[in-house]
Amino acid sequence: MAKSGIYQSSLTKKYVIALAGLFLISFLFVHLGINLTVLIPESQDTEAKEIFNKAARFMMLNPVIKVFEIVLFAGFIIHIIYGLILQIHNWMSRPKRYKVEGWSHTSPFSKFMIHTGMIIFIFLIIHLVDFYFKAKFFEGAESVWYDGEEYHDLGALIIQKFQNLGFVIFYIASFLFLGFHLHHAFQSAFQSLGLNHPKYFPFLKALSLITSIIIPVGFTIIPVFIYFQIV
Ligand code: HEM
Repeated sequence: MAKSGIYQSSLTKKYVIALAGLFLISFLFVHLGINLTVLIPESQDTEAKEIFNKAARFMMLNPVIKVFEIVLFAGFIIHIIYGLILQIHNWMSRPKRYKVEGWSHTSPFSKFMIHTGMIIFIFLIIHLVDFYFKAKFFEGAESVWYDGEEYHDLGALIIQKFQNLGFVIFYIASFLFLGFHLHHAFQSAFQSLGLNHPKYFPFLKALSLITSIIIPVGFTIIPVFIYFQIV
């Protein structure tokens, strides 16, 4: 392939990685919002975890969300495969290792994207086995009844999982790596899409920093509050 062809295909991959990544970030905000409802205590009108269990069932059964779910999993797979290909291509095309070890023009976050990405991938496999597949395919969650209707008690499953300190630490460590990954990913996605006008770039950088803090801190609240029985 001609040099310009390789450059072109690498640009296309960056484009696809960026689009899939931005889509995944928007999923994370929705997922975080729904998961935080597991912390809502019981009130006069609702039992504890009722709002979460109802939202989780809506997400599981709604036909529009089911299509979204297919797009979501496709987004993850495309993002991971293209990211790996791009990384291997970068390794192969790098002429020499830097003379001074540990020195690079790039930020530490950007240097470790492939590593933080792999940690998130491992987290995701364990997470899906523990929650998603249990809820969907195996009888992993108990039933609970609201207004005469049966629901999967995913809220109770989350509470039960986060009684285990090792599990809590593993989750929080994974959220930390997710934050590192997002910190570079968000601004880099805009750059790949060519939306890096100098006028807006400081704003996008700030947005990227805020996102990389809100997402991990927001998710961390859940295991911490449950483990220490704050609600
Ligand atoms: C405390 C943190 C988290 C909790 C309690 C949690 C809980 C759950 C539960 C109960 C499910 C199955 C039911 C459902 O679909 O809503 C699920 C699915 C899923 N989770 Fe999480 N999650 C957490 C963090 C994360 C993070 C950080 C990611 C991504 C890096 C993630 C990715 C997913 C995906 C891809 C699915 C399947 C798609 C879906 O149906 O929504 N989760 N999670």
